[in-house]
Amino acid sequence: LFYEVHEVVVRKLGHVPIAKGDFHYLPKKVQRYVAKWVQICKPRAIYICDGSQDEATEVIHKLEERGMLHKLKKYQDNYIVRTDPADVARVESKTWMCTEQKYDTVPHVQPGVVGILGKWISPDEAAEHLENYDGCMAGRMLYVIPFSMGPIGSPLSKIGVELTDSNYVLLCMRVMARVSNDVWHFLREGDGEFVRCLHSMGCPRPVQRKTINHWPCNPEKVFIGHFPDKREICSFGSGYGGNSILGKKCFALRIAGCIARDEGWLAEHMLIMGLTNEKTGKETFLAAAFPSACGKTNMAMLTPSIPDYTVRCVGDDIAWMRFDKDGVLHGINPEAGFFGVCPGTNMKTNPNAMLTCMKNSIFTNVAETADGGFFWEGLEDETDPHVTITDWLGNNWRRGQPGKAAHPNSRFTCPAGQCPIIHPKWEDKKGVPISAFIFGGRRPTGVPLVYEAFSWRHGVMIGATVKSEATAAAEFAGKSIMHDPMAMRPFLGYNFGKYLDHWLSLEKPPHKLPKIFHVNWFRVDEEGQFMWPGFGDNVRVLDWIIRRCEGDDSIAIKSPIGYLPKKGSINMDGLGKINWEELFSLPKHYWTSDIEENIRFLDLQVGEDLPQAIRDELAVQKKRIEEE
Ligand code: PEP
Ligand code: MN
Ligand code: NA
Repeated sequence: LFYEVHEVVVRKLGHVPIAKGDFHYLPKKVQRYVAKWVQICKPRAIYICDGSQDEATEVIHKLEERGMLHKLKKYQDNYIVRTDPADVARVESKTWMCTEQKYDTVPHVQPGVVGILGKWISPDEAAEHLENYDGCMAGRMLYVIPFSMGPIGSPLSKIGVELTDSNYVLLCMRVMARVSNDVWHFLREGDGEFVRCLHSMGCPRPVQRKTINHWPCNPEKVFIGHFPDKREICSFGSGYGGNSILGKKCFALRIAGCIARDEGWLAEHMLIMGLTNEKTGKETFLAAAFPSACGKTNMAMLTPSIPDYTVRCVGDDIAWMRFDKDGVLHGINPEAGFFGVCPGTNMKTNPNAMLTCMKNSIFTNVAETADGGFFWEGLEDETDPHVTITDWLGNNWRRGQPGKAAHPNSRFTCPAGQCPIIHPKWEDKKGVPISAFIFGGRRPTGVPLVYEAFSWRHGVMIGATVKSEATAAAEFAGKSIMHDPMAMRPFLGYNFGKYLDHWLSLEKPPHKLPKIFHVNWFRVDEEGQFMWPGFGDNVRVLDWIIRRCEGDDSIAIKSPIGYLPKKGSINMDGLGKINWEELFSLPKHYWTSDIEENIRFLDLQVGEDLPQAIRDELAVQKKRIEEE
């Protein structure tokens, strides 16, 4: 079970000691990968992780000693971390896909247009960024993290190895991915392929830049580089989750997107949930894509307001899906944890997330109560009004004072298995059968609560025109409505036109295609009040969707944009006043300008790469709207 270590590898490792683990245990490809970066990054030692509990205990003690993290004593093994305030979100402007050919990564935008669907960097330019890795781990430990995205051994899963000099990242990876020694065995027995994930905070010792909150980072030199042809990720300068927990967005969406294209499956920014009809016992699985900050985590584990359904969560952020030999689409959640936005999460909006977070979790950039609890905006009613609060910056904070106690993008990192409604099949190696895809966004005006695509192609068009109000998860500010096609804009791994081609290509025998829907929980009335209660009441809309999946034709009517629910076909019992007409109205001026804006957007941004089938769908939809 041990591998020889080639002399070239020995030479590259130089005198860097192995602090833990046995280098001989690593498959040779992994040995070469580690040695290559050890020679460049020059860490003081190498720590080969095994995923054990002892390992966590050791790392946590180290971090506590250094003051980077401390226990929240109100709970069992919950920890709080404050980052450097300059490192709190994904940095889209410094996140790149690197391919030889530019148009493998980005579409042919029209002349003079700045593309927003993917960011390409040439290999030469990327090479300049990679120079920053020279000596970048001096005086620091290099952790070698073997992990599986998806249950170890599932045909839907993929293996990764992350090298990082951040033990915070190690702790988060242990929650978000399956970190285990078993990965080495699986690599041995499988095809030996793994995604290469390199991460450095970019702060060699002695440090050049003053470290704030014991959080080393290098904001000026942030580089999140993806090399899909080499199945490799190189992340530099940031410790924030989306930039550093590389199994998540970088691997499971951007790199896996490319693998999925090559292998004929889907890697999407989608939750997966199962709803069991309590009368019939039948369970339906839905996958839903929403841009960041639209409540995807809340929906994934919603508490139904009506007794008709039991909801169980498979995943809250990413779905990997493949058609089986009978043409049924099966999906897994490649992740092992939830990395959710804290503000707004509470026992009313998402009790299941709150209960998941009571132990073994990490809280980043939240506020803290003097009795060792976490606090953020939304927990006011669940927190002793007299308790002293320290905000995410470490300052004393009083309720009602201007400014936020927790950063708007503060996060919980918690094991999915602790979720009270985690699906018993969430780790099933076959995955679960998906009946419908749901797209949505925050759309204050014009867009009805729910509508259904006429066809697969029409549904792909609807996905391509997803838009939403801007989010705190990235560096953007303000409340403008942004295009976020398929809710994948920040996570696209290749040319969006080709991505649409890939989706369209799935329409072939024996594939049983999911039905496609669009929902909007966020429509407001003339006073700016939400017209729909949302949260647990969203199950009423899902009920309609499920009945449509079962083929109930009596509950839908045709409209220019898709099938709408027939009046009264959504259960509104006990909801008080809901203005059905307004909730489902399709203001003609709105939809006329919306379709024109969508056509313009896709033409400018995707240009000649936009599939003809999508152009046709847009044109037909425009005609339907005009003729209405
Ligand atoms: C992230 O920013 O790391 C992340 C998970 O993003 P989001 O919540 O926007 O999906
Ligand atoms: Mn997400
Ligand atoms: Na932010």
